[in-house]
Amino acid sequence: MRPLPSRPRNTVLHGDCTRIMPRLAPASVDFILTDPPYLCRYQDRSGRRVANDDNARWLKPASAEMFRLLKPDSLAISFYGWHQADLFIAAWREAGFRLAGHLVFAKPYASSTRFLEHRHEQAYLLAKGDPAVPPAPIGDVLDWRYTGNRLHPTEKPLSILEPLIRTFCPAGGLVLDPFCGSGSTLVAATKHGRDFLGIELEYRHWRTARSQVAEDRAA
Ligand SMILES: C[S@@+](CC[C@H](N)C(=O)[O-])C[C@H]1O[C@@H](n2cnc3c(N)ncnc32)[C@H](O)[C@@H]1O
Repeated sequence: MRPLPSRPRNTVLHGDCTRIMPRLAPASVDFILTDPPYLCRYQDRSGRRVANDDNARWLKPASAEMFRLLKPDSLAISFYGWHQADLFIAAWREAGFRLAGHLVFAKPYASSTRFLEHRHEQAYLLAKGDPAVPPAPIGDVLDWRYTGNRLHPTEKPLSILEPLIRTFCPAGGLVLDPFCGSGSTLVAATKHGRDFLGIELEYRHWRTARSQVAEDRAA
C-alpha cells in the first residue's frame, strides 16, 4: 500500500474507502456528505451499474470509520436506499450516530414506476455528539434537478448539495465524501469555500472526480 498523509485535503483518493479511511487521522473532518450505493442492484437504461450496490459488506465498516473521522459534535448526511433503510439505520446507530433529521429531494419526474411512481430521493442527517444548531436551518424537502447522469449513472445535482454544505459545514472546513462517484460533493464544497476529501473505488469515476474538481478550481 502506498503511503498516505494522515490528513489529506483537497484531493481524491482512489480505492476502497473501508481500507483507506482507517489510515486517516481521527476527528479530522468537519462534515461528511455522502451518497453510498443504495443496495438496490441499480441498473440504468443503458446497463450501467454501481459498484457494491449488490452487497452490504462495506456498510458497517464504512459507517464506523465515518464516525471516527468526524470531529466531535459534528454532522454527517448520507443518502440511502429506502429498500434497505433498516440496514442503513442499524449500521449508523451501531457506529454511534444519532438520527438528527431526514431529507427528501422531490423530483419533478418519476425515475421509475412500480407500485408507485418513484419521485424522490432521501438522506438522513446524522449527529456525532451534540452539534450546534445552524444559525439558518433549511427545510427538509428540497427540489431535485435532473443532471442527465452524463458523468455517473447516479449523479447528484449540485443544487441540492450546495445548501447542505453551506448549512452544515463551517466556513473553511473539510468535507469528506467516501463514495464520491463523479465528485459532485467535492465540486459543491469548493464552490462554497470548503476543503474536500473524496474517495472512489472505480478507476473511471475516480478519474472523472479528479478532472471535475480540477476544472472547477481552474474556473
Ligand atoms: C451512488 S454513487 C455516488 C454518485 C455521486 N454522488 C455522484 O454524484 O457522482 C456511489 C459510488 O460509490 C462507489 N463505491 C462503491 N463502493 C465503494 C467503496 N467501498 N469505496 C469507495 N467507493 C465506493 C461507487 O463506485 C460509486 O461511484
